[in-house]
Amino acid sequence: MARRPAPPLPSALKAPPPRPGEGNGPLSPVEQAKEAGITVVDWVDERTSLSGAARWLMFRKVPKGTNWYYTLGSATLFAFLSQAVTGVFLAMFYRPDAAGGAYESIRHITDDVFLGQFVRGMHLWGASVMVVLVFLHMGRTFLFGAYKYPRELNWVIGVVLLILTMVMALTGYLLPFDQRAYWATIVANNITATGPLVGPYLGDFLRSGPEFTATTLSRFYAIHMLLVPGAIAALIGAHLYLVTKLGTTAPPWSKVDRRPELSETEV
Ligand code: HEM
Repeated sequence: MARRPAPPLPSALKAPPPRPGEGNGPLSPVEQAKEAGITVVDWVDERTSLSGAARWLMFRKVPKGTNWYYTLGSATLFAFLSQAVTGVFLAMFYRPDAAGGAYESIRHITDDVFLGQFVRGMHLWGASVMVVLVFLHMGRTFLFGAYKYPRELNWVIGVVLLILTMVMALTGYLLPFDQRAYWATIVANNITATGPLVGPYLGDFLRSGPEFTATTLSRFYAIHMLLVPGAIAALIGAHLYLVTKLGTTAPPWSKVDRRPELSETEV
């Protein structure tokens, strides 16, 4: 009886063909080390096809006249990532305890923990940097007319990102739970509660009731470290998807024809 042929060997298990000039001998340790990175990337790519997505994301045509102002969005993104990383380290030591524990944990981070003051300083100053950058980025997109068709949805997502960034700043301000944090939050909350229609409900939600209590601190902490960062990360994903899909706007002084009917044409 004729034997059936063996099933084909998966290509990952086949030896790669020798490169020109390399001969067939075994690879030296240095050559093996050089190949290792390539092999890992190839292995992942063969199973995920991620390199296509990476190419789509990173190798894009940009309009003539693209300049430094276009880096403000990426700078904001970097500020957010820095806040996320430093925030994770702060959360390892912070306690949202209104009976003195919160203040004490912040004192402990600042005075005792290795590099604690540095990481806390980065998070504190990074918050202001992110707020300034997000406004500058919004100003750039506004002045360059990037909110117009077909990028209106990205502008709207941007507006939500702006509001969420401000919510991060507001909720973070309470966490040290010193006198300044406490009273500033009382004032900010009272202002929020005077807003039209949803204002009073929003004020009650943030305070977790009609009065400022110990639960208010836990609520601010949960909003600050779970709810809003998650929402910001998801919205940045959508924002960047649209930037990649639609491309960026040419500066208003550029000679590129910006009529919408031509927007499908690759230039
Ligand atoms: C966390 C906040 C934000 C991040 C991380 C972010 C990130 C980015 C990045 C990386 C780009 C592409 C490069 C560039 O044009 O700078 C971009 C583009 C854009 N962003 Fe943002 N952004 C944020 C907030 C905002 C806000 C607040 C607005 C406006 C209200 C906005 C509106 C836009 C628009 C319209 C574009 C398209 C620009 C164009 O086509 O030229 N973004 N964003």
